[in-house]
Amino acid sequence: MCGIVGCIGQQNLIPFLLESLEKLEYRGYDSAGIAVHNGDNIEIYKAQGKLENLKNLLNDTFKNDKNLKSGIGHIRWATHGAPNQINAHPHSSFEEKVSIVHNGIIENYKELKKELTEKGFEFKSQTDTEVIAHLLEDCIKDENNYSNAIRTALKKLDGAYALGIIFKDNPEILYAARKCAPLILGVGEDSNFIASDVPALLDYTKRVIYLEDNQIAVIKGSSYQIMDIDGNILDKKPEILPWEPVTISKMGYKHFMLKEIHEQPDVIRQTLFDKLHTVSDPLVLKEVKLTKETLEQLDRIQIIACGTSLHAALVGKYLIEEFTGIPVDVEASSEYIYKRTVISKNSITIGVSQSGETADTLTAIRQAKDNGSHVLVITNRPDSTMARQADSMIPVNAGFEVSVAATKSYSAQLMAFYLLAIYLAEVKNTLSEEYIEDLKKELIQLPQKIEMILSNKDKIQDCAVKFHNTKNFIYIARGINYPVALEGALKLKEISYINATGYPAGELKHGPIAMLDETIPVLAILVPGKVYEKVLSNSEESKARNANMIAVTSEDNEHLEAVFDYIITIPRTNEVFSPILTTIPLQLLAYYIAEFLGKDIDQPRNLAKSVTVE
Ligand code: G6P
Repeated sequence: MCGIVGCIGQQNLIPFLLESLEKLEYRGYDSAGIAVHNGDNIEIYKAQGKLENLKNLLNDTFKNDKNLKSGIGHIRWATHGAPNQINAHPHSSFEEKVSIVHNGIIENYKELKKELTEKGFEFKSQTDTEVIAHLLEDCIKDENNYSNAIRTALKKLDGAYALGIIFKDNPEILYAARKCAPLILGVGEDSNFIASDVPALLDYTKRVIYLEDNQIAVIKGSSYQIMDIDGNILDKKPEILPWEPVTISKMGYKHFMLKEIHEQPDVIRQTLFDKLHTVSDPLVLKEVKLTKETLEQLDRIQIIACGTSLHAALVGKYLIEEFTGIPVDVEASSEYIYKRTVISKNSITIGVSQSGETADTLTAIRQAKDNGSHVLVITNRPDSTMARQADSMIPVNAGFEVSVAATKSYSAQLMAFYLLAIYLAEVKNTLSEEYIEDLKKELIQLPQKIEMILSNKDKIQDCAVKFHNTKNFIYIARGINYPVALEGALKLKEISYINATGYPAGELKHGPIAMLDETIPVLAILVPGKVYEKVLSNSEESKARNANMIAVTSEDNEHLEAVFDYIITIPRTNEVFSPILTTIPLQLLAYYIAEFLGKDIDQPRNLAKSVTVE
């Protein structure tokens, strides 16, 4: 949610700012802006809309100016104030002595705005951020040094911030500060950098320091100092990132989402690679640091997540309960954090987050941890704030996901839950060895089965052609595929803006069935197993109300043909593994419908991939 970057001492300052902002576009794309110090003044350029608009605003001479001292950049996901040019960052103080970029939300901005307005500061934007710029200018008047002024100002702020700050009268220093929003200091040879996330820096340096809450960085071209909010100097050494620069390429696919959907077989192979050695050996989850004693006594699990990760968590609940009998509660992080935190004695808390930075989930796991729970995080970012705060982790190895709508990270999260549920069953001895071996054999075959779905997309495309103008879509399933119905509906909503809702199939008759007529498609997920017949009869009930019926199924028989107008077939698998397969056609259906509608698939309106505000 909003991305910030900054740099000092770099000759190619503008190329750095623009290239690094491009790597952060997943965090927001409402507007973009930069501020650069030319030695005398701060110049600011901002544009509404995508980063491309900002790039087009800057002429080549300026882009290649080698004499610029320092600069900060921002890519916005609007919270306070419409996504227009005035509200775009950077924001400057009244006398233009300070320019800042900000990620986060200042909760007491109204009170501060009132105080500052009374002192004569005039506000130009509707943002919460602008108060920080004026506040800094106000504090410089009373303080004899810049970092003291910053510390004084920060102490007045309630809320979350990652900040990049430059001062007109102090061109040799870039300042940065962090509280409850990610921020990294990149250490180069004769230049230093800041960024909200690692991919922005990898082309420039692999030496980074993850700033922690209430830390301030005072950064020059060839040195830096980190202090706490009280001014104590901290000894923080850079760590070397093990990653290569991230190449953002669609590899011939029309959209990143389509590429990422097609990467899922390999993502699953990669997830299994170092954890499942042979079907007869126990699984190896080396980052799970639960003691044998804790595992033996474990009698309750709570899982906290948001969005697509929440849907993966619901599948996880089903699996863990099915394989181990341990009761599992799943809750949206945003709900969890505003009620009493109840941690039972022999329980653990699992946080699921592809980014590892989602504000609600981060707060939730902190609360669980503060209340004595062991926190295990399932994340695609082992370097994230969540992973750093957790006691244990299951890294999901999905690779960098560019498309805002999560696909491969979701499949990788599901895999993490399969592995965890089997791991718990092995430790707690809740399933027979033979059954566990069968499960592992089936797991290994999943990538190939996904490849079969991906190589036969005609039916899915037919459905997309037929239904792309539909206003409402209903997804139904039962049991372990119910969360898949929720996820399929979410995917469609996110990228096509069609109203889509997932229901437990048995709930249709308790209300939603009233909506059904020939204008509404009902997509039913039905695979052989405990609930097949039940979903089939719920589908018949829908058919009887003239709904257009679509099946995602591994069956192909006359009975189905009588009920469904479209049958999308997937390979057969054990019912417990079916979510990995049933998800794929739903991702593709959402993709093709959005494509027919000409939507901005990789960057849907109003969304961001990493949501760092509560
Ligand atoms: C945003 C994204 C979703 C994602 C959710 C949770 O809303 O657009 O795709 O599922 O955040 O993110 P997390 O990183 O915690 O999984």
